[in-house]
Amino acid sequence: MSLIARIEQIFTEHGTAASEGARTGSVSALEHALQCAQLAEWANAEPSLVAAALLHDIGHLVALDPDADDTDDVHELRALPLLGAGFGAGVTEPVRLHVQAKRYLVAKDSGYAATLSPASVSSLALQGGPMTHDEMQLFEELPFAQQAISLRRWDDLATQPGKKTAPLEYYLALLEDLQQQPFVDSKIGIGSLSVA
Ligand SMILES: [Fe+2]
Repeated sequence: MSLIARIEQIFTEHGTAASEGARTGSVSALEHALQCAQLAEWANAEPSLVAAALLHDIGHLVALDPDADDTDDVHELRALPLLGAGFGAGVTEPVRLHVQAKRYLVAKDSGYAATLSPASVSSLALQGGPMTHDEMQLFEELPFAQQAISLRRWDDLATQPGKKTAPLEYYLALLEDLQQQPFVDSKIGIGSLSVA
């Protein structure tokens, strides 16, 4: 099965689950993913970041797969073996860093913490709490920190019940295009020439 077919299967089989990342749980995982991708697109984000927005919580859904190892609850990391099989760092790094971006934003922006759901506040403690000053400096120097911060803000907004979006097929086509970029080094998963 191709990676895109696998992603479609995961969303089709598990996308109706309540979004664990959503503020109220009132949108499904698929609705949350589509709304997040739409917000990225409306912000004229690079296609790789639109893809990251679509796929940022797929680790939650992989965990629902009976074949998946869900002893580890770190969903942003659980997605990486799947996504790294076909996409470059422009997709995988914002996904990997979007939880750290929450820790960064809570420390950086005093108003941000107030916007988080109770679930997100309690998971923040498990995720390490607000970043220290030194952690913030290190985070800011990471190549995809700004993309992860943008993704995090769209993530927080992608929770509107009933919002109209393009269907999953539209974004699967975008994923296909991203995958068709030549690879420099498929072994380490940093291959897409579209990676900035
Ligand atoms: Fe999310």
